[in-house]
Amino acid sequence: MFWCTLGPKPWIGRDPLLPSFCDERRYADDALAMIEASPCLDELIQDTADQFERQFGESARWFGAAPGRINLIGEHTDYNAGWVLPMAIDRYTVVAAASGQTPGQLTVNSQAFRTQASLKLDQLDRPHAVPWLRYVQGVVAQYQRRGIQCPELDIQVISSVPAGGGLSSSAALELAMAHLIEAVTGKPLSSDERTAACVTAERETAGVPCGVMDQTVVEHAKAGHALLLDCLHNEVTQIPFTEAGTALLAVHSGVAHALADGEYAKRREECDRVAAELGMQTLRDLTELDLQRLTEDDVLYRRARHVVSENKRVHQSVAALRAANWSQLGALMQESHASLRDDYAVSCAELDLLVDLALSEQGVYGARMTGGGFGGCIIALVDQSRANAVAHSLCEHYAASTSRQPACYRVRPVAGAREISVLP
Ligand code: GLA
Repeated sequence: MFWCTLGPKPWIGRDPLLPSFCDERRYADDALAMIEASPCLDELIQDTADQFERQFGESARWFGAAPGRINLIGEHTDYNAGWVLPMAIDRYTVVAAASGQTPGQLTVNSQAFRTQASLKLDQLDRPHAVPWLRYVQGVVAQYQRRGIQCPELDIQVISSVPAGGGLSSSAALELAMAHLIEAVTGKPLSSDERTAACVTAERETAGVPCGVMDQTVVEHAKAGHALLLDCLHNEVTQIPFTEAGTALLAVHSGVAHALADGEYAKRREECDRVAAELGMQTLRDLTELDLQRLTEDDVLYRRARHVVSENKRVHQSVAALRAANWSQLGALMQESHASLRDDYAVSCAELDLLVDLALSEQGVYGARMTGGGFGGCIIALVDQSRANAVAHSLCEHYAASTSRQPACYRVRPVAGAREISVLP
């Protein structure tokens, strides 16, 4: 799929060489009643253009878009210079803009947060009072630091990536903004520099000391592939993910995950302490043998054990994916969840319950929490013929035991922001 930014409305085209997921998905989702339908990217862009017009009384001129992501496996290993295996998913954030009506500021209207907020372009240093606007602010600040000045704009944001779901709604907003600024100014950064700008935006302005996984996959993903990332060398290897006979479900626990709350930063500090104690720069090359030197502090021992075992599982998962060995991949996902729950302590009762419920269903190869944790989503790899039944039963049982309403999405591996945002 490709689209460009010429003219008063986006011209949306479809690359004839790419399969059309749109019609296929619509059909499939109608049959899968418990699975929330995902609007196609071109529909979302059209919606954003329409909402912009209603909101600001004129047509949008520039657009940016970026997908969310799930992480198949490799959790909390990115900031330890290890390996991760995420993929971009067919849920997107779209931003539309025209020249601003108020001098010196961005006026941003968000559909998800049902609010409009403004950002003064000469006040980029101190984090904005409105938390979601910090992701926009951070990106604008990073472009400014690289000599690219974002002018005053009116902006409409629409997203099908659930906020607080652990599906990287923040990285999607950052990368969509980055592409928007480049469309407006006509000054593109390289893909690597763009990714780096968004990582720094999240760390410095949003205050989350994140690793590089989310922004990298949201920008660099390839359709039909998971992305193996070596986080030390920023080296990307695209691993075909054919889905043959399987479906990936993401199930939102309804518990909002918030990484800026401190527990995420605490895990990073604990890992730094392990590295310092062992005289290592990072935990990348930590081995099982090294763990024996950590037995004095049970917490640090467990954190380190997770990192060692999770890195190993990423490599094993790549082999399983290449061989389309779903049972093997599923087993690794289960081990990963147990390790995140017991050793790394980033799961929560609701995520554990969802995973247990999923694993009790027929036709489920594996399930685990995905993303930073403390709420958000689990993913489940299921036999395609069982997807609807699993979604149904999972939602019913979860709602009955928690009085929370889960949301269930079927997710597919799609292209990242650099491929879908094509400048004229
Ligand atoms: C969040 C961070 C990532 C990564 C994951 C955990 O999504 O943004 O950098 O650390 O948590 O794997």
